[in-house]
Amino acid sequence: MKGRTEDSTDDGTRTRRPAGTRQSRVCTGPISRRIAAGLVFAGLAGGLAAFLVDAGLYDVSATRQHLRPTFFLLEAGLHASVRRHARAVNAPGASTPASLDQGMRCFLDHCSQCHGAPGIAPEPFARGLLPLPASLVQAADDWSREELYWIVTHGLKMTGMPAWRYRLEEEALWAVTDFLRTLPGVTAERLREWREAVPESACESRATRPEAPVRAAFTQYACTSCHRIPGVVGPDVHVGPSLDGMRDRRYVAGMPMRGPGDLARWIERPSAVRPGTLMPDLGVTPGDARAMADYLLAPR
Ligand code: HEC
Ligand code: HEC
Repeated sequence: MKGRTEDSTDDGTRTRRPAGTRQSRVCTGPISRRIAAGLVFAGLAGGLAAFLVDAGLYDVSATRQHLRPTFFLLEAGLHASVRRHARAVNAPGASTPASLDQGMRCFLDHCSQCHGAPGIAPEPFARGLLPLPASLVQAADDWSREELYWIVTHGLKMTGMPAWRYRLEEEALWAVTDFLRTLPGVTAERLREWREAVPESACESRATRPEAPVRAAFTQYACTSCHRIPGVVGPDVHVGPSLDGMRDRRYVAGMPMRGPGDLARWIERPSAVRPGTLMPDLGVTPGDARAMADYLLAPR
């Protein structure tokens, strides 16, 4: 696999040399023939991939680690992607003792369950994840401050690392990022003393979260875990009714719907509209609820 990639890179470089050099003669054949060969190769590779997917040969279980090349490919892709996207991050000033207190508390509230902490093991469920959440003692060596912030804020697709952007305040996101950077120097004993000295409420979930872009909101509030939503990529689930064609409906969950206000009220707190409904209250902010209602009622 690795060898083949290198070959084709060599080949590509050679073909780009100016005409008349020795290398260009090595790579003979009219361009159209090479394009045809490329298409055939791409077709075969695509066919092979489709066969492997369709035959279910790749083991998706979390009890079997990826093959070594797949593992390294995914790791390399993850690092490159984080590095690229974190370039847009503007870091605030340095941490303070108070912000580190907050970061420590956020870490114990929201992160150590999966990643563990000095003297604290990850919860059993987290040890069943693949990829296994890493101990973050080393994270400050592997990533810059901006990169750590980006990972914590946006999470990592297909790993189990959640996005904290709509769950923690901006200040708390930087606080926990900076706490990660001090982690290599924190002993189990120091952490024990430290947590006793800081009130449990020091992290505090966001009272006024930034509003999620509406499509992101449908996944960040878990709506797509139960509903199919027009225009939003998600699984084919039918736990709740499909939200297609809301515009033509006169009722929401059996209650009369006179406009987006009624729909927003339902999304914000279904239990208040219809006690005992199967749809849970998801802590949707009024702004996000209204944006989702407008989206669902928009003509399309
Ligand atoms: C549900 C489990 C879970 C929770 C909770 C969680 N993470 Fe993660 N995290 C993961 C997984 C899985 C990965 C990807 C595997 C890995 O590299 O550790 C990851 C990766 C990371 C990474 C990149 C690690 C590296 O070295 O590549 C950082 C940094 C991180 N998480 C920080 C946090 C912080 C900070 C919190 C709390 C705000 C948090 N995580 C909460 C599961 C979790
Ligand atoms: C755990 C599953 C679940 C989640 C998560 C969930 N819903 Fe629902 N939803 C339901 C069920 C079940 C119903 C039907 C409830 C009833 O009639 O009492 C429903 C009904 C609705 C309706 C009314 C549909 C109709 O045909 O009358 C809307 C609109 C709606 N949900 C939007 C949302 C939005 C937006 C979110 C995310 C903020 C969401 N739901 C999250 C299960 C869920």
